[in-house]
Amino acid sequence: MKRIIAVVNRKGGVGKTTTAVNLAATAAAAGKRTLLIDFDPQGNATTAFGIPKESGLATIYDVITGQRTIRDAVCQIITPGHLDVIPSTADLSGAEVELVTTRNREFRLRERLKPFEQDYDWILIDCPPSLGLLTVNALAAAHAALIPLQCEFYAMEGLSQVLKTIEIIKKNINKPLEVDGILLTMHEGDNPRNLEIEREVREHLKGMAFQVVIPRDPILNAAPRFGRPAVWYHPWSPGSLAYQNLTLEIIHKDLHA
Ligand SMILES: Nc1ncnc2c1ncn2[C@@H]1O[C@H](COP(=O)(O)OP(=O)(O)OP(=O)(O)O)[C@@H](O)[C@H]1O
Ligand SMILES: [Mg+2]
Repeated sequence: MKRIIAVVNRKGGVGKTTTAVNLAATAAAAGKRTLLIDFDPQGNATTAFGIPKESGLATIYDVITGQRTIRDAVCQIITPGHLDVIPSTADLSGAEVELVTTRNREFRLRERLKPFEQDYDWILIDCPPSLGLLTVNALAAAHAALIPLQCEFYAMEGLSQVLKTIEIIKKNINKPLEVDGILLTMHEGDNPRNLEIEREVREHLKGMAFQVVIPRDPILNAAPRFGRPAVWYHPWSPGSLAYQNLTLEIIHKDLHA
């Protein structure tokens, strides 16, 4: 089963990049041929893998605008598994404006990805914190939307907007798209507000939330500074273990789908 997973939430700082990077690293280590697309002009996933944003670097912007292919733009990451990363720089913010007047603008990523899909078992797309054209392109290309949700006061409000957008995309441009699933991040087991939101999500959105919850863990926060995902840099930290378990939960779901 080929999996294209868009990691989305319109809210910033909820753990999208941390999730995309650590899932990609773990999936590759588990033997999945993996591609991570940094689809955010902030380029945080690019930095997390220590890819220098030097001039001349082929990026996802070049792919979307038709100047390079997916294969031209991949950086192979040195790991025991197969992990390719397509980097991103601030250029990508221009694409959102440039694409507005083009035909089939929602399908740019899907079209560019199609010839290379068979080269990978998992393709992860790290989205920017908005529901604009870039995120729509990611959702139009994906089989699954993974929504990291930080357990805080406004989380539920943002979540309903994301779910509404996914419904619209599913209805109009990408029928097979599923929410799979909601991931509670930066969770503190001794924080009553966190536990209340977890209860709310599990009660109201039955079956949508992953069993695995990602704890707040300073190791996850520190890893990007070393240009390596936390699951490699410190695999036994609670956050790294949680991301390894999340990968297993997704693989297990696929086996029983
Ligand atoms: N479980 C965690 N424990 C501690 N820190 C975390 C955790 N998850 C993420 N962080 C930190 O929180 C910050 C935001 O995380 P991240 O960059 O993954 O969010 P994001 O949703 O991708 O943000 P943006 O919307 O800006 O792209 C980062 O500094 C990251 O290192
Ligand atoms: Mg991010």
